[in-house]
Parts: sequence; structure tokens; C-alpha cells
Amino acid sequence: MKLIKNISQLLHFDETQENDVLEDAYLVIKDDKVFEYGKMINLPKNDFTEILNIENRILTPGFIDSHTHLIFAGNRSDEFEMRANGATYEEIMQAGGGINNTVTSTRQTPFAKLLESGKQRLDKALSYGTTTLEIKSGYGLDIDTEIKILEVIKQLKSFTNQKISSTYLGAHIVPKEYKENRNDYINLIKNKMLPLIKKRKLANNIDIFIENGAYSIEEAEEIIRESIKYEYNIKLHTEQLSNQGGTQLGVKYNALSVDHLEYVNDNDIQILKNSNTVATLLPIAVLFLNKDNYVNANKLLKNGVRVALATDFNPGSANSLNMNLVISLAVLKSKMTVLDAIKGVTLNGAYALGMQGQIGSLQIGKQADLVIHDTDNYKNLAYNMGDSLVRAVFINGQKRCFRK
Ligand code: NIG
Ligand code: FE
Repeated sequence: MKLIKNISQLLHFDETQENDVLEDAYLVIKDDKVFEYGKMINLPKNDFTEILNIENRILTPGFIDSHTHLIFAGNRSDEFEMRANGATYEEIMQAGGGINNTVTSTRQTPFAKLLESGKQRLDKALSYGTTTLEIKSGYGLDIDTEIKILEVIKQLKSFTNQKISSTYLGAHIVPKEYKENRNDYINLIKNKMLPLIKKRKLANNIDIFIENGAYSIEEAEEIIRESIKYEYNIKLHTEQLSNQGGTQLGVKYNALSVDHLEYVNDNDIQILKNSNTVATLLPIAVLFLNKDNYVNANKLLKNGVRVALATDFNPGSANSLNMNLVISLAVLKSKMTVLDAIKGVTLNGAYALGMQGQIGSLQIGKQADLVIHDTDNYKNLAYNMGDSLVRAVFINGQKRCFRK
């Protein structure tokens, strides 16, 4: 058994407790799980195999980045500069750039190269305290490349002990070669890809980008209905650039999460309120697209909606894996408390992946995935804007250090 002692603030988010934070605490790990935790004054006298005195630093669950597009090739820094000079994301997309750009380069890039960049990105995510990631396909949009991306994601699992949940985002945009016959592409998703990916166990979740220039509500519903036959979990990109009704569609089909939500309306919130669907906010994407329509999380939270926060890491709208930046933006721009923001990248991220039974909080019996941060007060996670304070990360009870 391993003991971590002198924790200034233990942010456990244990749902069996009334409070989310315990001050002056210890935590015990047995094998790969949280065995117990409590106040230092009640420290048990056990024979620990390892004792770690963290000298008045804080401890949180490992961060869960529940929305990323980690596997892609190429670079879109030119679009970033164009937006800085006034072009919009939609204009760039309509002119044939945007997602199409990345699809072209990802199709041309061999498996080994995608795998190598995937490994490096996972390492970077770990340095930001991310112990679990969701990773989407969606930059292939043909059978071979979508399978290539999903196989890369599967292989990555043998190089890291970070947990990975994989998502088939075949319905990202309609690929160029199907512009004139989009129904054929939708049929390819429904009749070929969904069964194939299921059979090869390459993804647990599906995602659809519901937007003008991407997929309509009707098309999304058609794909969702088919995916249910194969028992995929549902996640949606929706209300990002306009209100499309995807939030309501997601709730109708018990989606794990609806993501982005810059254009969510009061009616959508009332519908979300009585559901298990998580609202996932992606504030880095708003910043990166040079916009200021951050979601006000208060309305969601006041109505008891579960709010998760993630990076949306991708080459076009959010080129960052920095979870501290997510927390800072959520506090500054989405008006969240620091504690709610940290809950958004831990417990509520776990809910957004349907993994709340194993991870997301430091409840007894859950996996010992946790982060020691170089500060005595959790508020500094928001205040040290975009600056990782990660000192050490534990995954399944195993330690990885970042600072001495
Ligand atoms: O979540 N909105 C759709 N998909 C991504 C962006 C993809 C890209 O621009 O490459 C997003 O923002
Ligand atoms: Fe996304």
C-alpha cells in the first residue's frame, strides 16, 4: 500500500460525500485503486510500502480530456493567421480549406507517422495531467483512412497507461468526392463502416458534426438510429456555429454528451435538465476561432445540467492539449467557479465518456489516477493561466514525475 501524506487540499469529488474538498488530508493507494483517504489527524499506522510526503500540495483526480481529435497530419497555421485578419472559420471551410485540408494530409500520411505523432501528443497531454482521453477519427472520411486512424488509436493503447476511449467521427463533414451524392456517403457510414468498426472493436462511440456545411438534423438522426443497432454510445458536435437542434436530438437518443453548445438556447437547457446527457464546453475552440461567444455555464449549472470541459484538441479550431488553459478560460469566460471547472475536467469528463464507475473522482475503489500539483491552493489552477503546475501523475497507482 502506498501513502500520500500532507495533502493541503484533496479534491476528491467523491459523490458519497457532501463536500468535494478535504483539507490536510492523506490518501492511500492499494494496487491500482484508491483504498482510503482522510484527515491527517486520523492517519492510520500501517506498514506502507511507500510513503510520499507531498509537503502541503494539492491532489486532484487525473484530468479527463473527453473530446479530442488527436490523430491527424498537417498544419493549419495559415488559417489561424487568416482568422486573426478577419476571415471566419465558416468562410475558410466553404472555400475548401478547414477540415478538408486535414483530410487530404491525413490520407497521405502513413500509419507509422500518425502513430509517432500520436505518441508525442499523448506524452504532452500527460505533462498537463491528462490521464484519460477520448480520441475521435474523422480526418479520413474514406474506409481505409478511417480504419487507419482507428487502428492507430488502438495501437496507442499499448504505448501508454493513459486510458483511451475511441470514437468514430465518420460524419465529420461530407468528403469532397461525395459532394454531389451525399446520401451515398451516409449509406456507406450506415451499411459498411458502423458494422465493420463494431466487428473489429475499433470504437465504442460515434460522433456527428451537426452544422450547416456538415450534417443536418435529419441526416444525424438517420445515422444515430443505425448506430443504436450496434450499441455505440452517442456524442455530438452541435450548436457550435448556429443552433441546429442537436442538443434535443442528443437527449432524445440518450447521448453521453452534446459538445460545443455556443448557440444553446433556453429551451435546449430545459430539455438537457431532465436528462443524463452531459453538456461539454470547449472554450479553447472559441478562443482559437477568434470569437467571444463563450457559453455561460451558469444557466446550465443552475438547472442541474452536468457540465464537462475538454480541449477539443485538433489542428483547425483548438491546437492545444492544455487542461489548465481550459480551466482558466472556463472560469474567466464561462463564469464557472474554479471548483466547478476542475470538476468539469475530472468527474464530469468521466460521465461524458460513460466511465464514471472507474475514474473521475477519488472515491474508494476507483482507479488511482491522480495528479499532484505544485501549489497549496486549487484556485491557482485557474490563476496560473495556461501554465501547467503538474508535479507528478499517477495512473493505476503507478507514478510518473515531471518536476523534482
Ligand atoms: O470540434 N467542429 C468540428 N470539428 C472540430 C474542428 C475540426 C477542424 O477544424 O479540423 C471541432 O471544432
Ligand atoms: Fe471537436
